[in-house]
Amino acid sequence: MTDASAAVATAHPNIALVKYWGKRDEELVLPLADSLSMTLDVFPTTTCVTRCPGAPADAVTMDGRPAAEEVSQRVVRFLDLVRQRSACGDRAVVDTRNTVPVGAGLASSAGGFAALAVAAAAAYGLDLDRSDLSRLARRGSGSAARSVFGGFALWHAPGPHAPDPDAASFAEPLSRVRIDAALVVVLLDTGPKSVSSREAMRRTVATSPLFPAWLASTRLDLRRMRAALEAGDLAAVGEIAERNALGMHSTLESADPPIRYRTGQSDQVLEQVRALRSAGVGCWATMDAGPNVKVLCAGGQAVPVAERLAGATGFPAVIARPGPAAALCPRTGAGR
Ligand code: PMV
Repeated sequence: MTDASAAVATAHPNIALVKYWGKRDEELVLPLADSLSMTLDVFPTTTCVTRCPGAPADAVTMDGRPAAEEVSQRVVRFLDLVRQRSACGDRAVVDTRNTVPVGAGLASSAGGFAALAVAAAAAYGLDLDRSDLSRLARRGSGSAARSVFGGFALWHAPGPHAPDPDAASFAEPLSRVRIDAALVVVLLDTGPKSVSSREAMRRTVATSPLFPAWLASTRLDLRRMRAALEAGDLAAVGEIAERNALGMHSTLESADPPIRYRTGQSDQVLEQVRALRSAGVGCWATMDAGPNVKVLCAGGQAVPVAERLAGATGFPAVIARPGPAAALCPRTGAGR
């Protein structure tokens, strides 16, 4: 144990270009396939964890208010994992500030659990390297494993015969990326989604007849995506990302009962993206567990693409570029 009883950390959301969709283990949050993402430089979450010796229970606040019961329970279960690994059973106060709407398919849980993992590990004196932090963040929310890293990151699914699947599932940064990309986030709806990604994943794996095909295709997409990123081929990156996202949404829409995150407004943005492409502007759409659309384009095209999408749809468009890794805020000292 170090003697720091409080730690503050910041992390950013990430958007997958090859999606994580489907778990092989709910408890350990182990994915069925690798995924690959870009961490954003917008919408950071900042979380402070303060150990409180003698306190009877954890207290969780979000944006200055007591967190909803479900959120609070998720955080307490996460802190239990941290306590199990440290020699300290102290309860804690967790204060989280988001700059991203929560539960709207804008990856708030990715930045949220990456920030919590880094802050809690420091507050409880755990000496974790970046891969360990990624494994830990994964237990809060799968995609959080990738937000531990900045830029582009690949999260490994454990192989079918991995002797220790938990140890084998962590993200790592991709260093040989040769594209200059931006993601334009079109904010259609910032309210919470109707079906959580956890439930939606469970249902599609269990009931969608398309799921096995999607799993095979996403594994292929991952290999092609890596090659396209390393070759600096933005058009290939965009095409793979758009097809991968639409494939994921097809599994949702073919689940029983079906889940539909796409709305008429999402389709309107997808249409605009196609129109821009027809006009010679390289841009491609991706969507997560919500109606909002994120549009990949060259960094130098981000402003005109955002202006065109905002102008055509009337919705705000936020430009995101590759962002930083999760990090302790300086005043809290330790961490690597
Ligand atoms: O990390 P979760 O449980 O919120 O799942 C995220 C799933 C997607 O955002 C839809 C895809 C992804 O890879 O981030």
